[in-house]
Amino acid sequence: MDELKEYIQKVSDAANETLERILPPETHYPASIHTLMRYSSFAGGKRVRPCLVMAAYEACGGEFGDEKAMKTAAAIEMLHTFSLIHDDLPCMDDDDFRRGKPTAHKAFNEALAVLGGDALCILAFEVLASIGRVDIITEIAVALGTNGMIGGQVVDIESEGKTVDKATVEYIHNNKTTALIRASVKIGAMLANAPTQTIEKLTSYGNNVGLAFQVIDDILDEESTSETLGKNVGRDKDKGKATFPAIVGMAESKRYAQELIENAWKDIAFLGDKGAVLKDLAEYIRVRIS
Ligand code: IPE
Ligand code: IPE
Ligand code: MG
Ligand code: MG
Ligand code: MG
Repeated sequence: MDELKEYIQKVSDAANETLERILPPETHYPASIHTLMRYSSFAGGKRVRPCLVMAAYEACGGEFGDEKAMKTAAAIEMLHTFSLIHDDLPCMDDDDFRRGKPTAHKAFNEALAVLGGDALCILAFEVLASIGRVDIITEIAVALGTNGMIGGQVVDIESEGKTVDKATVEYIHNNKTTALIRASVKIGAMLANAPTQTIEKLTSYGNNVGLAFQVIDDILDEESTSETLGKNVGRDKDKGKATFPAIVGMAESKRYAQELIENAWKDIAFLGDKGAVLKDLAEYIRVRIS
C-alpha cells in the first residue's frame, strides 16, 4: 500500500496544480465567491475521483500528466466539491464541518455557498468543453442529473426518518455516490480511447467500487471520529438517514463491502499488471479510515 500512498500523493499534487490554474484568483471580482470556491477546493479532500480517472486512463495506455486527463480529473473534483458544498447546506444534511474545516456556508454564508457550488459545477463543464469530447461531457452530465447524483440526493433526503427497504438504499447509494465514481473510471478509459469491451469492464469496476465507497462512508459515520474523518460523525443516525448499517446491520455492511471489492477485482483481472493501481485503489476504498 506504500506505492498506492505515493500514487495518491502524485495525483493530488497534479490535481491541485491544475485546480490552481483553473480556479479564478481570490482577488478576482467578485472576490467572495472565488475565495469560497478555493476554500472548499483546497480544504483537503482525498482526491479519490481524480485518482480513479488517472488510474483508468493509464491502465488503458494513457500517459500520466497529459493535459486533457489532468483537466478532466480536476473538473471531476470540482463537481464532487460542488456536490459536497450543497450536501452540507442547512436544507440538506446541515453539517458544520467538512474536510477538517467549517463548511462553506459556515465559513461564508448560505447564499454564497449555493452560488459557489453552482459556479464550480458550471466551471467544470467549461473546462470539459475545452477538451472537445461530447461523449465525455454527456457521460458526466448523465452521472450528475436526476438519473444520477441528484436523483440519489432527492431520495436520500425524502427517506430521512423513514424505514426504507434495501432496494431503496441501493438506489440512493448507486446514484448519489456511485454514479460520479463510475463516470470517473469510465471517462478515464474513454479519454484513452479504450475498446468498448474494456470500457464495459471498467464501468462495472466503477459500479462496484462506487457502491463500496458509500457503504464504507456509512460505516465510518458510525465507527470513526470527527478528527480522523474531518467531518462530524454520528450525523446519519441523528438525521435518520437510509444507510447500509441501518438497513442490513454493521456486520453485513462490512461483508458486502468486501464482496463488492472482490467483484471489482474480478472486473479488472483481464488487465493483469496494468490494473495494479486500480486493484490497490479498490482495496484502499474498503480499508480507508477517512
Ligand atoms: C464524501 O466523499 C462524500 C461521499 C460521496 C461519501 P469523499 O470521502 O471522497 O470526500 P473528500 O473528497 O475526501 O472530502
Ligand atoms: C453524499 O453522501 C453524497 C454526495 C455529496 C453527492 P453523504 O451525505 O453520506 O456524504 P457525507 O457523509 O456528508 O460526506
Ligand atoms: Mg447527504
Ligand atoms: Mg452529507
Ligand atoms: Mg456520509
